[in-house]
Amino acid sequence: MDKASVLIIDHVSANDLKERLGKTQEFFVVGATENPDLGFTIAERQQPDVILLNIDLPGNEGTSWAEILSMEFPMSSLLLVTTSDSKRVLHLALQVGAKGVLNLPMDDDRLIRTVQKAVQQDKRRRELFSVQRKVKPQFKTIVVFSTKGGVGKTTLSLSLGVAIRQMTGKRVGAIDLDLFSGNLALMAGAPWKYSIKDIVDDINNLDRETLDSYLAEHPSGLKILPSPMQPEFAGFIHAEHVEKILSVMSEAFNYVIVDTPTYLHDTAVPALAEAREIIVVTTLDLAAIQNMKQCIDLLTTLAMKPKVRVVVNRLGYTGGLKIKDLEDELGMKVLTVIPNNEKAAMDAVNLGIPLITSAKGTLTARRIEELATKMLTSDDQPTSVPGLRLARR
Ligand SMILES: Nc1ncnc2c1ncn2[C@@H]1O[C@H](COP(=O)(O)OP(=O)(O)O)[C@@H](O)[C@H]1O
Ligand SMILES: [Mg+2]
Repeated sequence: MDKASVLIIDHVSANDLKERLGKTQEFFVVGATENPDLGFTIAERQQPDVILLNIDLPGNEGTSWAEILSMEFPMSSLLLVTTSDSKRVLHLALQVGAKGVLNLPMDDDRLIRTVQKAVQQDKRRRELFSVQRKVKPQFKTIVVFSTKGGVGKTTLSLSLGVAIRQMTGKRVGAIDLDLFSGNLALMAGAPWKYSIKDIVDDINNLDRETLDSYLAEHPSGLKILPSPMQPEFAGFIHAEHVEKILSVMSEAFNYVIVDTPTYLHDTAVPALAEAREIIVVTTLDLAAIQNMKQCIDLLTTLAMKPKVRVVVNRLGYTGGLKIKDLEDELGMKVLTVIPNNEKAAMDAVNLGIPLITSAKGTLTARRIEELATKMLTSDDQPTSVPGLRLARR
């Protein structure tokens, strides 16, 4: 018999339950996390047979998560975990259509039987409806690239991350791969304790569940992996580390935005390879355009041209050239044009606020929002029916 897949979302006993269920013949634990938000993202990817949710969260949070998980994953049997034996929990279980309640503490025997019962009860339903199982949702890595400095890569990486987070409410992460002189976390005004160097030091223990503890958080909920605090640490970070970090990030986040340095270093190659879209940023001056051509030639050599999206930033800052000139020169269309906005950019840098926020209400912010909308997966396009996800956080 196939093992039933189990996801555990429990801020108290995730590890204990994982150990107890993981050692059995009947179950296979696809994820165990303390964080309901991450749990949701794992559920989307893994579509587990059973979800265990600890509902002893502050206020109404437990109830909200039970409702969200039960609505969004009707094919998974939901079991509520609690240490309280009040009637309220049973009521809630009934109300959200949970398959049962795990009243902790509980011995191994009863634990296994309760989870097994839920699997059995729902087996028939799963078989009947498996044809209708929701198409797996899409996850996306977006790289912001250019081999020229000062064109707005970091500004756009940050603003895109914030915009996508605000539009979708989903888990959005950003990585600063400008290993020598990155300033993504600084520009976000997000306090940070760890950097990519700390993850690399502990790379063998890195997993979806430990990842968040290394990340800085912007008030929008965007999570940021900063570049090393000291440039001399950059030498410790190799392409294979970046590859591993990206693979864990892309499992734990719906969207991963990658900011890159001004030079093409081999640590950026795994990101370019993983990317679904590569935003190549330029300004409209001759030097930038010459650089842009080289950039696109390089990406063409790497067979990545189909993923390239050209974005012009700071329109109006340097006069002379026209969008049409650029398009003719590159033989490619420009996806989005973002106007120069000196005042908002200054505020952004000095106050640590993303440009999309400091330029709110201006064409600059609207164009960045449009770009963010173009980057959304088809799941999240505004035309699709808004899901409960929008209510998260
Ligand atoms: N649309 C814009 N309008 C005005 N200034 C901008 C705009 N985008 C970026 N900047 C400014 O340009 C400078 C370089 O931006 P940055 O994002 O650090 O570039 P990069 O990461 O490519 O080196 C920063 O001072 C930033 O505030
Ligand atoms: Mg930069």
